[in-house]
Amino acid sequence: MKTILTGIRANSELTLGNYLGALLPMVRLANKHSSEYQVNIFVPDLHSIISEIDGNLQENTIKTIKYYLAAGLKINDNVHIYRQSYVPAHSELCWILNCIATMGETSRMIQYKEKSKGQESSNVGIFDYPILMAADILLYDATYIPLGEDQFQHIELTRNLAMRFNNRFGEIFTIPAKTADQVKFMGVTDGIRIRDLLNPEKKMSKSTKAENSKIMLSDEPERAAKKIMSATTDSLGKVKFDMFNQPGISNLLQIEALVNDIPLQDVVSAWAGETSYGKLKEKVAKSVLEMLTDFQEKSSNILDEEVLHLLKMGEVYANTVANEKLLEVQKAFGLR
Ligand code: TYM
Repeated sequence: MKTILTGIRANSELTLGNYLGALLPMVRLANKHSSEYQVNIFVPDLHSIISEIDGNLQENTIKTIKYYLAAGLKINDNVHIYRQSYVPAHSELCWILNCIATMGETSRMIQYKEKSKGQESSNVGIFDYPILMAADILLYDATYIPLGEDQFQHIELTRNLAMRFNNRFGEIFTIPAKTADQVKFMGVTDGIRIRDLLNPEKKMSKSTKAENSKIMLSDEPERAAKKIMSATTDSLGKVKFDMFNQPGISNLLQIEALVNDIPLQDVVSAWAGETSYGKLKEKVAKSVLEMLTDFQEKSSNILDEEVLHLLKMGEVYANTVANEKLLEVQKAFGLR
């Protein structure tokens, strides 16, 4: 059985970008495939501590899992939820992979450059982040890793490390699918990148200060609708999907498609020829408002105990699988 695996950090409240770019696609894939695939969903809490944490990490973790459940994740014997730091093999394999990764390839990671930008001296964890991510993936022989577009470079790095390792030691790791195939598997034509509402050239990010730039999953739904109404557009006066020349309008079309689970092309066709941006904004604002209202009600009805129970079961599974793979790697390196 192949494995689908993904994670979202719980440093703070999640944005609509995290939700539409990673969490929701994962839930839809899991529900569609969990009879033929293992589905691993984990909270990378060790990745969290490379940067500031807003609130309490453990409470944020529980909340993030509630979001998966509120988004409709169906649990069965093939679906596993766990916390990274509860499975020590992740850190152990990260160290071993550090010893086959090169400084050159790790320094080229765009996320590292962005995250360390403007910092006088950044911590080593920021640099090592993609190697730990590779360990997260390779321990479980994952083939598909649904992620937003900003993380694709890390998948390529993971593939390279796995191939290098296998060339040296034999077929120990499954090579994750190429990013083009990941995208196909996710059922989208391109990677998903939800844009900042005020500066649509940039991705929507938790760390952006301006409140109207981002929609948080905990936003009052009416307030989120107002943010959509005040989103930056352009002066071309035609509703068209063109991320390059009309990123603001294209972002709204993308949000509309993802929130309602309609293919982007259908949304684009339905709005072709429209000249009023106001009408489009009103429709998207309504979609987001309804989505958030329903989603917040569902997540507030899930008990902490339910989540803790799922985590404990998931961690028994994850430790068993991960320790078995780790032992193979340790033997290959002569550590056992
Ligand atoms: P994190 O928490 O930074 O991001 C979580 C996911 O959200 C996606 N994302 C977006 N997608 C579309 N539009 C946006 N504006 C947007 N902002 C964020 C990210 O692409 C990501 O999919 N490194 C991972 C966590 C991780 C992981 C792993 C994932 C650690 N180990 C192993 C998969 C497999 C991350 O970026 O988390």
